[in-house]
Amino acid sequence: MSDTTELFNLFKTERSMVSLKPKIKNNSNWGTFKDSLRAPVHSWFPYPAGFSYKAVEHAIQKFSINQFDVVYDPFCGSGTTNIVANQLGINSIGVEAHPFIYLVVKTKMYSSYDYNIIFDGLKKIENISRQIVISQEELTREFPELVLKCFSGKTLGSLYSLREAMKKVNFSEVYANFFNLALTCILRPAANVGTGWPYIAPNKKKNGGEKNISELFKKMVFKMCADIQLMKQKRAVDAWYRIYRG
Ligand SMILES: C[S@@+](CC[C@H](N)C(=O)[O-])C[C@H]1O[C@@H](n2cnc3c(N)ncnc32)[C@H](O)[C@@H]1O
Repeated sequence: MSDTTELFNLFKTERSMVSLKPKIKNNSNWGTFKDSLRAPVHSWFPYPAGFSYKAVEHAIQKFSINQFDVVYDPFCGSGTTNIVANQLGINSIGVEAHPFIYLVVKTKMYSSYDYNIIFDGLKKIENISRQIVISQEELTREFPELVLKCFSGKTLGSLYSLREAMKKVNFSEVYANFFNLALTCILRPAANVGTGWPYIAPNKKKNGGEKNISELFKKMVFKMCADIQLMKQKRAVDAWYRIYRG
């Protein structure tokens, strides 16, 4: 083979590699959580420090990462990298230092839930929560000023009842985390102050009447179950993952 042919072949390879690169339509949101706010599972907990799942998809494709590789995110936050890798059948490891965000990512990654336990648990929580009533004075003692500013007394009372009811049901760790996350995820929509992205504005009152907290909670639980099922159906290959507390 002549030098010219070799060069030509090399050029051809490079050209084809270039054309394999995924096209970027709009990457202006990649450094933010905006795209992830609209995606199943990613969207459960709007993490202001999170980034776009599309950026991860792009990086995995760009660097030809495949099922024989292991993706490692040492600052995995709410798990964007690990969720995308898992979805593409790629093994992954994540490390997160923040104790609550660590619970968020663990809960988002787990997909072997027994829906009977979830639906039965939901009924138990609803029944027990109806019997838990807290007075305005008790709420004032229980919560800091910022929290009291963000919710009406009635809403905060309902959130408190759900939280206490969850503690009374003897859930295993996986299900306790699942319900805890569902309750945390309705805090923004339940607030009666500005919760526009990404921060809350406790002095800006939101329009709209009193929210039905029990209904919001139930909807969140159903959404979480539906998302898990959807992701399972779309996942071509199973992959392993490990999430560590940093
Ligand atoms: C920019 S965020 C990552 C967000 C993530 N990509 C997502 O979409 O959710 C960085 C994360 O690193 C975590 N972090 C900071 N220092 C750490 C450490 N020493 N070890 C592990 N995690 C750490 C923070 O708690 C934060 O959640």
